[in-house]
Amino acid sequence: MTTQETIDVFERYVIANYTRQRIVAVRGEGSYLWDAEGKRYLDLFPGWGVDGIGHCHPRVVEAVREQASKLLHVANVPFYIEQQGRLAQLIVEHSFEGQCFFCNSGAEANEAAIKLARRYAAAQAAEGVSPVRFKVITAYNSFHGRTLTTVAATAQPKYHAGFYPLPPGFVHVPFNDADVVAKVADGETCAVLVEPIQGEGGVNVPDDDYLPKLRQICDERGILLILDEVQTGVGRTGKWFGHQQWGVEPDIMTLAKALGGGMAIGAIEAKPHVAKHLVPGSHASTFGGNPMACAGGIATFEAIEEEGLLANAQRIGEQIKARAAAMARKVGFIREVRGMGCMIGIELGRPGADIVNACTQQGLLINCTHDTVLRMLPSMACTVAEIDEGMDILEGVLTAV
Ligand SMILES: Cc1ncc(COP(=O)(O)O)c(C=O)c1O
Repeated sequence: MTTQETIDVFERYVIANYTRQRIVAVRGEGSYLWDAEGKRYLDLFPGWGVDGIGHCHPRVVEAVREQASKLLHVANVPFYIEQQGRLAQLIVEHSFEGQCFFCNSGAEANEAAIKLARRYAAAQAAEGVSPVRFKVITAYNSFHGRTLTTVAATAQPKYHAGFYPLPPGFVHVPFNDADVVAKVADGETCAVLVEPIQGEGGVNVPDDDYLPKLRQICDERGILLILDEVQTGVGRTGKWFGHQQWGVEPDIMTLAKALGGGMAIGAIEAKPHVAKHLVPGSHASTFGGNPMACAGGIATFEAIEEEGLLANAQRIGEQIKARAAAMARKVGFIREVRGMGCMIGIELGRPGADIVNACTQQGLLINCTHDTVLRMLPSMACTVAEIDEGMDILEGVLTAV
């Protein structure tokens, strides 16, 4: 099909809820993507963070291919699924003592975490340990997903518009301010839910004492700390999980995006005393933890380990930041460069949408979030030359506008 033919089909049959450009993606390899007209793009925002180790990583492709020839899908009842168990083991062994539940997306993972926190609180109340608690504190400029409950958790009015009434029980506070959490948390609060680094909200890195202070407040008051690692997880920041940057363990961690190396998968990991409250009948997912998605996840962990991609993610972050800082000396409207590893934001003193479009024209894919923040979530396997190629294009665009 030509590009126009595909667009024609979309215009007739697909709901227009995304702002698409006239590009039909047909093939990906590592840091590069090709469209239906054969144009090649350097993709420094692969799959919106899903292709965390690059497009079609050979290890993931092989694992999925092999799995597809054996078993595509079975339900979680009545079966054990070997690949699901192995992926859970890899997540736990690289994070903290806990157990996992699998679903299919970041929103579902957060939904499961919120349900689990309320169920844990209900059990505590039933045992007379605490009063009934249900409130979840979240941060302004957070992003937790598009289901009604995760929209309510997402403290950005633009995502609420038109969807009222939203599920109650969410309290929104400024990000990076633990003192306000201490003030707002009351006897009805069951959890605090934050991203270790806010992604969609503008790549906001908190002060070093923020997560440790949240941990302390939660411990003192018997509140669960839920960390949304949908974007920061699975190596993105240069450590396996974002919370490890600050040495703070959550009670529940949520994952998705890069976890499957391109396969659709989400997960939560919860500390054992919390996890035990998801009993049969309390929560489930038909597709969750299927052998295909988990095979992709296992291959992703193996690739990161064997190819030294955590160290490479750190190096990429330093390279991008150094190049962006040098650009800031030439381009007057770069306000700040921030982020960690393969999660970098360049805050501009002007809107960034036209810059992203100009980059796309020149064969570079990046994103703009929060109107003014250019965001890159490059593959952890990017080379020095690829990052230089991308930053050369970006510099050309920034100095020409
Ligand atoms: C931090 C965070 N949480 C949750 C989500 C929602 O994930 P999904 O789109 O897979 O539902 C996203 C998506 O961008 C995210 O960045």
